[in-house]
Amino acid sequence: MPDEIPVQSQTPDALMLFGFWYRALPSDRVHRGQLAKAMLLEQPLVIGRDPQGQAFALRDACPHRGMPLSCGRLEGRQIECSYHGWRFDVHTGQCQLIPSLVPEQNLKVDRIYAGSYPCEERDDFIWVFVPDPGPAGAGFTKAGAASTPAPEIPKFSEHYKIAYLTADLPCSVDHGIIGLMDPAHGPFVHQAWWWRTQHSIHEKRKNFEPIPYGFRMSAHTPSSNSAPYKLLRLYADADSINTTIDFVLPNLRSEIIRAGKYWFSSLTTVTPITRSQCRIDVVAAWNLFRWIPFGPQLLKFVFAKFVEQDRRTMELQSEGLKHNPHLMLIDDADRPAKWYFGLKSAMLDVKKNGVEFKHPMSGPVTLKWRS
Ligand code: FES
Ligand SMILES: [Fe+2]
Repeated sequence: MPDEIPVQSQTPDALMLFGFWYRALPSDRVHRGQLAKAMLLEQPLVIGRDPQGQAFALRDACPHRGMPLSCGRLEGRQIECSYHGWRFDVHTGQCQLIPSLVPEQNLKVDRIYAGSYPCEERDDFIWVFVPDPGPAGAGFTKAGAASTPAPEIPKFSEHYKIAYLTADLPCSVDHGIIGLMDPAHGPFVHQAWWWRTQHSIHEKRKNFEPIPYGFRMSAHTPSSNSAPYKLLRLYADADSINTTIDFVLPNLRSEIIRAGKYWFSSLTTVTPITRSQCRIDVVAAWNLFRWIPFGPQLLKFVFAKFVEQDRRTMELQSEGLKHNPHLMLIDDADRPAKWYFGLKSAMLDVKKNGVEFKHPMSGPVTLKWRS
């Protein structure tokens, strides 16, 4: 790709990628016996738990006359619509009762389905598989299985702590994702005396390599200009601290830091809610600092600061983006963003034209930038 291509021409029309797992809600926001609402890829969902606590996700619209099922109530493994009392199995969406039918009316109730989605709980979040859209006007049938297992944070010991953070971003998923992988904003957006200052900016070289449906910043020793990594080196008493950062479609950024027997692992996702809104969820697991009583809170504090700085920045950016200004991506600092757009359009091409996935990277690359 040549330099300075306008972002618009690389963005496939703010299209969203169907056929993947997405984080819908934190587990602790979905209580037994209650119905929660969520939105993924412009699809309204009702999310709840069956009597065994197992999570389910249905399209939040009754297949009869469209009443949101979230207005209804749970009755064991069934959800009852508040308008005419039709009942649906919460996991399959299959209709099991239409109260208005009289005995001689032989409507095949069990052929009617509310839209249902594969739903799994992983690492304190409820994940929902959003399938490729079926033919228009086809109505709902039994939901197919997900094509892949729901993503999970890699963990390297039996005992660990886990915490999450979430923030709504007033921008398209593409701006959310490229904001996440952009190395050059660090010194300007994420300044704090305990982290780094603008003056600590220096030249960096990072090796990247293609991985299936994504790219990896190869294992490296993290930047020496941040205090926490210096601390970690002392604490772990390990010569080498290793960090690997992966980005994989549709929206997964995972970071693994290992130092001797200690590890820190996170999976950050930017989830499309609508075409112009997304949400960032950071979930981290670690066995570091387990002896510090405030370890998790401390970590959450640090991450919350970062996420809030990013959120605030994107909120301001969305003001600037309102009237479609000309944008550009430069080398090398914006190269990961270009790869993202390349990966995304390759995936859209697979879905639209059934061609083979064409990875935008042909091999390992070293990028240089100042940050
Ligand atoms: S709209 Fe749901 S039962 Fe009629
Ligand atoms: Fe950031």
